[in-house]
Amino acid sequence: MPPLRIGMLGLGTVGAGTWRVLTRNQRDIVARSGRPMEIVAVAVRDLERARRIVGGAVALTTDPFDLVNRADIDVVVEVMGGTTLARELVLQAIANGKHVVTANKALLAEHGAEIFAAAEARGVIVAYEAAVAVSIPIIKALREGLVANRIAWVAGIVNGTSNFILTEMGSKGIGYANALKDAQDQGFAEADPRFDVEGTDAAHKLCLLAANAFGTQVPFAEVHTEGITELEAVDLACAEALGYRIKLLGVARRHDHSVEVRVHPALLRSDHLLAGVDGSMNAVMVHGDASGTTLYYGAGAGSEQTASAVIADLVDVARSAACDPSERVPHRAFQSHAMADLPLRPMADTTSAWYLRIICSATPTAERALLRTLARFGLQARIYGRYAQPDHSAHHVVLTQPVAYAALRRALVSLEQLPAVQGKVRAVRVETLE
Ligand code: NDP
Ligand code: HSE
Repeated sequence: MPPLRIGMLGLGTVGAGTWRVLTRNQRDIVARSGRPMEIVAVAVRDLERARRIVGGAVALTTDPFDLVNRADIDVVVEVMGGTTLARELVLQAIANGKHVVTANKALLAEHGAEIFAAAEARGVIVAYEAAVAVSIPIIKALREGLVANRIAWVAGIVNGTSNFILTEMGSKGIGYANALKDAQDQGFAEADPRFDVEGTDAAHKLCLLAANAFGTQVPFAEVHTEGITELEAVDLACAEALGYRIKLLGVARRHDHSVEVRVHPALLRSDHLLAGVDGSMNAVMVHGDASGTTLYYGAGAGSEQTASAVIADLVDVARSAACDPSERVPHRAFQSHAMADLPLRPMADTTSAWYLRIICSATPTAERALLRTLARFGLQARIYGRYAQPDHSAHHVVLTQPVAYAALRRALVSLEQLPAVQGKVRAVRVETLE
């Protein structure tokens, strides 16, 4: 068989890892794919740095359009990032009849509908296993292993950087800024790390998971997204003292006529399977009506960890490029004509229990006022801990029974107006995933 000729856009953390793994494991990879894989050309900004990685055998360019227009390339690997130039390049590659492998979840969450439609019209593959929970073959699991199921929900920890930061802050007592810097130094973080810590990256991935799980488009801009930037070490410690861990969770759930898609920090009981997922690791749980709950665990970021998924996609391209496009696995698990457009369920209607940390005078009168205020909005709550501050106030840690988000928000406004309450009330959902 002739080699699969690859052009790579980018040779950074993921691109260089792909180069190394492909070079190191070429023999096993060819034994599986049936075709040699040859990186023919690479587009970067810094040619000298790239030359040090790939040596003299590969054509290098600083013009990425030059690369996607080359006639001697079968597949373009987009590991450059961003959504503007990357979108143009991917669409141009597709228009040129090239298959695309990408690790770019932002691109697909925001422009997936356009890109998949263009690929389908041109009969080429757009593969993106590396875009979600890198080393975990979760797209393959949803598209192939679980196809018999009506999937009720998919949930998990899908951002390695924020999980790494929470773990460092919690168990090692390392400060937020140092933990983030460490994640950046290890190549886990996005070029703009706000995507990681504000929950955006997790929301991008959740859109792709939900589309594959439920067969519906998910409008990224409407996904409820909260990150970890408001959490403090005291929250992690209070949660721990109550028998919980705090994780940044993505949850997508199917309802009869809508889908619920949300990213936010959540308390999970310490014995929950996801609570023990630490560092830059990721884990995804999927509940199917026939399979029951299945769990997938693995590295959530990193150079060769992501390369593992990029190359898996390249092998899929090598195996199925010659097939009739209608016989390939659909881009988002469901045939495109069967994709629905279900609305997102308003967050105000979602229900969960809550952890509240309220800084308030440590007097019985003040505490009664807290609980009375919560009760006025239908929140059954109990004070589980009081952590004294030097000024005679205390962090009051409250857990509530499940309540609609709309009621919780109204209660928070009233709580923060009580004379005994200082500053903002910290509120984090308690998730059971039942
Ligand atoms: P890096 O910043 O490490 O690498 C980006 C690469 O793209 C660099 O080689 C850079 O060139 C090149 N590049 C950027 N802009 C241009 C341009 N205009 N023209 C030519 N080359 C360009 O990013 P990562 O490897 O970390 O991430 C790449 C993609 O993979 C992103 O979409 C990211 O979200 C995704 N991803 C990252 C993971 C990770 O763990 N890091 C995991 C999963 C997905 P130069 O080297 O010359 O600067
Ligand atoms: N920045 C991402 C993360 C990379 O930390 O999860 C993997 O997608």
